[in-house]
Amino acid sequence: MTPPADHRTARYQADPDQVSRVLLLYSGGLDTSVMLHWIQAQYGAEVSTLTVDLGQPDQDWTAITDKARDMGSAETLVVDAREEFCSEYIAPAIRANALYGGGYPLFTALARPLIAKVAVEAARELGCDTIAHGCTGKGNDQVRIDATIAALAPELKVLAPVREWSMGREEEIAYAREHRIPVSGGTRQAPYSIDDNLWGRSSEGRAIEDLDQPPPADVFRLVTRPEEAPDEPEFLRLGFEAGRPVTLDGDRLDLIDLIDEVSERGRRHGVGIVDHIEDRIVGLKVRDIYEVPAAAIILSAHKDLEKLVSTIHQNNFKAALDDRWAYLCYAGLWLEPLRQDLDAYMVAANEFVTGEITVKLYKGSASVVTRSSPYALYDKTLAGFGESGGEFSQLASPGFIELFSLQTRMAHEVRRRER
Ligand code: ARG
Repeated sequence: MTPPADHRTARYQADPDQVSRVLLLYSGGLDTSVMLHWIQAQYGAEVSTLTVDLGQPDQDWTAITDKARDMGSAETLVVDAREEFCSEYIAPAIRANALYGGGYPLFTALARPLIAKVAVEAARELGCDTIAHGCTGKGNDQVRIDATIAALAPELKVLAPVREWSMGREEEIAYAREHRIPVSGGTRQAPYSIDDNLWGRSSEGRAIEDLDQPPPADVFRLVTRPEEAPDEPEFLRLGFEAGRPVTLDGDRLDLIDLIDEVSERGRRHGVGIVDHIEDRIVGLKVRDIYEVPAAAIILSAHKDLEKLVSTIHQNNFKAALDDRWAYLCYAGLWLEPLRQDLDAYMVAANEFVTGEITVKLYKGSASVVTRSSPYALYDKTLAGFGESGGEFSQLASPGFIELFSLQTRMAHEVRRRER
């Protein structure tokens, strides 16, 4: 078979004539399974697969590698990157209160640069010339993966068959049938495009694209519908050290287990459903349904504690940097120096974000109900309503107000006269 025509527009794209050893990012789903066959057939290339464990629930890694091996994969790697994901990606995101568009905790966006990095390491180890992935040409994930690979490994090329082939879902299923690629039971109606890891789960496509309709019930696979959540609230106590969650109800847990446990409790109480209209980096708008129980709880707790220990100036300043951090992460520019500069700021700003927060989970909501910190800038004896004494002098307030409002009063007067 002759390799496909050369349609390259970027130098990191694979040259059809020079694809000989490919590392395929493999999930075991329909797209990447068809790809595993297609790349071997089209390019006569040797293909190895890499599957990265980032805490996707209910995955049978052995079944995935068996399937890849049956389909001719030379090496079938599974890399457990959960620890690195937690400490190098999720923990920084927590310090930065990372939400894109005010609602999306970025679990997919955080995962992609790590997947790309693991892929580069594996490709080099196996002597591959090309990394292949299953991203479409319409999404953000292609940006994140391509940009990271191209930055880390200029010698490697990228192949994204879904961007090039003209197969839709039906054609892919037909291709799979024709070439005896096992198509798992639910695939025929697999109604949504799903991505998940330990920080959250997203669903896109099909019925979710009908903006005038509420999300269909079958979208929700993680979080209980708030209507069906228990009638009794549950309280959960999170301890932070320098902005990193380290204890749950007083027990010290590593971040993977802590996120798992918080997620489990949030799910039961219907916490973390986000129905989100999002601006993709490639210009399209999309509607996503997110199920993010752990992120919803941990991010609100973190932000609350941060406010308690930071000054008014720090608090007013940081939100803008948080937004910028989230944007760079979303946009796939994980390796952008500005993101790393901002990280340094986030670490500094979190030095004293240590303490405990209690969150109440109840029918879809996660609300902070208690907070404590040895570094709280909160003095109950000064805060008391109407009481005098201590270091706060109410008698000094009128002087403060007179000076503080000086320019505002002058400007108001000047404008009043002119109008
Ligand atoms: N909209 C989110 C993002 O761009 C989630 C994308 C989910 N990816 C997927 N392949 N279904 O990060």
